[in-house]
Amino acid sequence: MARILLVEDEEFFRLVLSQVLENLGHSVDCATNGREAEYIFGLREFDLVISDVRMPTMDGVALLRSIKAKKSTPFILMTGFAEILETHTAAELGADGFLAKPFSQDAIKETIDACLAPPPIELLEADLDDRFHKISMSDFVSGKLIPFGIYIRLSSRRYVKIATQGEDIALDRIRAYQEKGVRYLYLEKGDFLKYIGLNLRIVKALPKFDGISKEKKLSFIRHTGEVLLEQVFKDGINREAFENAQEYVEGAVSLSLEYAGAQDLITVLNSRADQLYAHSLGVALYGVMIARHLDWNSSQTLYKVSLGGLFHDIGMKEIDPSIFQKPRISLTQEEVSLFESHPRRGYELLSQLAFIPEEVQLIAYQHHEDMIGQGYPLRLQKTKIFPLARVIAVADRYCLLALKNPQSPAGMDSKEAILELERHYKDTLDSECLAALKRALQ
Ligand SMILES: [Fe+2]
Ligand SMILES: [Fe+2]
Repeated sequence: MARILLVEDEEFFRLVLSQVLENLGHSVDCATNGREAEYIFGLREFDLVISDVRMPTMDGVALLRSIKAKKSTPFILMTGFAEILETHTAAELGADGFLAKPFSQDAIKETIDACLAPPPIELLEADLDDRFHKISMSDFVSGKLIPFGIYIRLSSRRYVKIATQGEDIALDRIRAYQEKGVRYLYLEKGDFLKYIGLNLRIVKALPKFDGISKEKKLSFIRHTGEVLLEQVFKDGINREAFENAQEYVEGAVSLSLEYAGAQDLITVLNSRADQLYAHSLGVALYGVMIARHLDWNSSQTLYKVSLGGLFHDIGMKEIDPSIFQKPRISLTQEEVSLFESHPRRGYELLSQLAFIPEEVQLIAYQHHEDMIGQGYPLRLQKTKIFPLARVIAVADRYCLLALKNPQSPAGMDSKEAILELERHYKDTLDSECLAALKRALQ
């Protein structure tokens, strides 16, 4: 049992909440604003303060500042959904927990328990980013029961739970976040893996669903590819991630064979996805289209091309992302060599894993080699470049033009992109692969 000071200006909410806290076995003193709370806090000892943010006279953040200046009493801040992002200051001031309104009784209990029995110091110091995976907010459908707890990220040390398992997440909440510029929601690692599993089952069944529009199917493929790559880029490729990728590729390949519409694919990939992920997915899907138009029809080959496309830039994983945001021309010599180390890094990463086919490893290694022997890292001569890597090189160059990226902020349509390839890259790209891409885009 704890002695709790509850600070809330809305009477109804204050009464309900104090009842809930008492039912949980705590004793409760109430205040209606920060000033009053400050006074009561000076009169007796409290184990915990739970306070609203917006209140007349003195708000919750000012109260937090005042209390933390005197004592280390745990402090939980209750925020409206739209205010959550303004709680950075509160996090810096040392707030110990956050409750996003409206919250359930379980959420209160969980938050209070966590504050009263703080985790060991190591955990507080730990980088929470390792425990969460992001998913794109725009893929969240409202009105559905959520099978997982959902968080938003305030900093690497502070994640706030905004929906508990089994709750509905309402559209207006989502909108409020989006208006604040939030692009991602977060799931805990274990839940994230379940989420991937769920999506993969849908991906596999997608080709059989007749009632779903092509755009919806493609956008589901994009979303699932994105979450898969999030796992791979964050945790590295392990057996499970690889098996997931295999399953995904099967579904994605059969679907992309069904729909060759390049412009639709570009539109879907360009909609709100993480650029590096959208790029990898695009290279996988266009790689398969090129291979098909080279009349490579064996499912084994298509599968390797697709996996190679997904993982071709995996070597970027440990390179500072700011490097990709800068135009190539403004990179220092050192940054250029770091950037150009990604094929070798990717190869080393993939070749340590016995379950990754050798062809996929070679694709990562050679996708920046070119037909005039000027590519990197090995400056291989044309005949030495592995055929599947040539396919991916063309898909890669095409996606760099057609999909949004720092070099091509708007992205080009397929005709423009092809013209640009012919104008500037004709000599360096494999002519048969380029011709196959043109056929695929007709
Ligand atoms: Fe690359
Ligand atoms: Fe690439």
